[in-house]
Amino acid sequence: MKKKLLAVMLTAAMAVTTLAGCGSGAASDSASTDAGSTEAAADAGSSDAAASTDTSGSGKRVAVAMPTQSSERWINDGANMKTQLEAKGYTVDLQYAEDDVQAQVSQIENMIAAGADCLVIAAIDSGALVNVEEQAKNAGIPIIAYDRLLMDTDAVSYYATFDNKGVGTAIGKYIVENATKNGNKGLEAVSGAGDKMNIELLMGSPDDNNALMLYNGLMEELQPYFDNGTLVCKSGRTSFDDTCILRWSQETAQQNMENYLTGFYSDEDIDIVASAFDGFAYGAKAALEGAGYTADNWPLITGQDAELMAVKNIIGGSQTMSIYKDTRLLAEKCVTMVEAVVNGAQPEINDTEQYNNGKIVVPSYLCTPVAVDVDNYKSIIVDGGYYTEDQLAN
Ligand code: BGC
Repeated sequence: MKKKLLAVMLTAAMAVTTLAGCGSGAASDSASTDAGSTEAAADAGSSDAAASTDTSGSGKRVAVAMPTQSSERWINDGANMKTQLEAKGYTVDLQYAEDDVQAQVSQIENMIAAGADCLVIAAIDSGALVNVEEQAKNAGIPIIAYDRLLMDTDAVSYYATFDNKGVGTAIGKYIVENATKNGNKGLEAVSGAGDKMNIELLMGSPDDNNALMLYNGLMEELQPYFDNGTLVCKSGRTSFDDTCILRWSQETAQQNMENYLTGFYSDEDIDIVASAFDGFAYGAKAALEGAGYTADNWPLITGQDAELMAVKNIIGGSQTMSIYKDTRLLAEKCVTMVEAVVNGAQPEINDTEQYNNGKIVVPSYLCTPVAVDVDNYKSIIVDGGYYTEDQLAN
């Protein structure tokens, strides 16, 4: 089992290394950007644009609506999209709505009024944009869904994302293979020794289709161990409805964890925090520190996005793993979709079944998420050119 995991990681590491060679050069710059400097990241990208000889997008405007700058991943996503589109000569209007649904609606209305040739949308609330999407359709403006599926609309042409159920599967498999109790590693071994492990779940936003898909992938892996009593959830909150956190709020994650710790863990330690997002892992960390946890009883904590802070925490030991999503690759795939709708080119698609938005099945490209921890972050993240050793050391 472990060998198989290593083989998968090695293959992924090689794939990432290869990609780093042909991807956008601005990505490692943008990955280092902190939450305050979106424009700097975006500007860093425009120098690439100047150097490019591909002007196929010249005279065309692409509007990119992003959800928030409160999480590093979206800053990188926006910067990568701007860089890569400008490198092809497109004019880019990049807007963030700070998790305010109405603000995003207004931004998209303005983008339509300004005469965008294509809209790229990473929604805050995936079902709340139906009217504005209809307006875009009526104005003849094609829409690409970025990372998060746009629900209940036939106005969306393509969807670029990561394998969202695969993210949950990777987190679940990581827990199954690496959770350790009394010297036994992996839930099979823990179960064989007659031990059990306490787990709590921090799941994503109910208005984001990705969150439920992640949960489903995760539970497919964990359910057998709940069923045989190896995993115990003392709060009893294991359903998606009971564990989802609106707008992926780090503060709510911290509050939930504080409530779990005071309500259910006064006489036993929590062993596993199955968190769906690096931001939740930071919230859990703060709650655990507040409750007096130390390296001696620190639980396994998962995450998603491999944010700079998360990888630092993985190196320092306060987070166990994250899911690396190469936003450079996602932007690259999304740009091919923009070109398809604007210039009549053919984008690469690798899924025409999974992403039914309630109206249509949206043709999609799914990038592969990769689990990273202290053992493989160097080969995947540093060798892949996503962060440098220097960034991780400071
Ligand atoms: C993305 C995740 C991200 C989360 C919170 C999801 O839609 O797929 O990568 O962690 O939003 O921002």
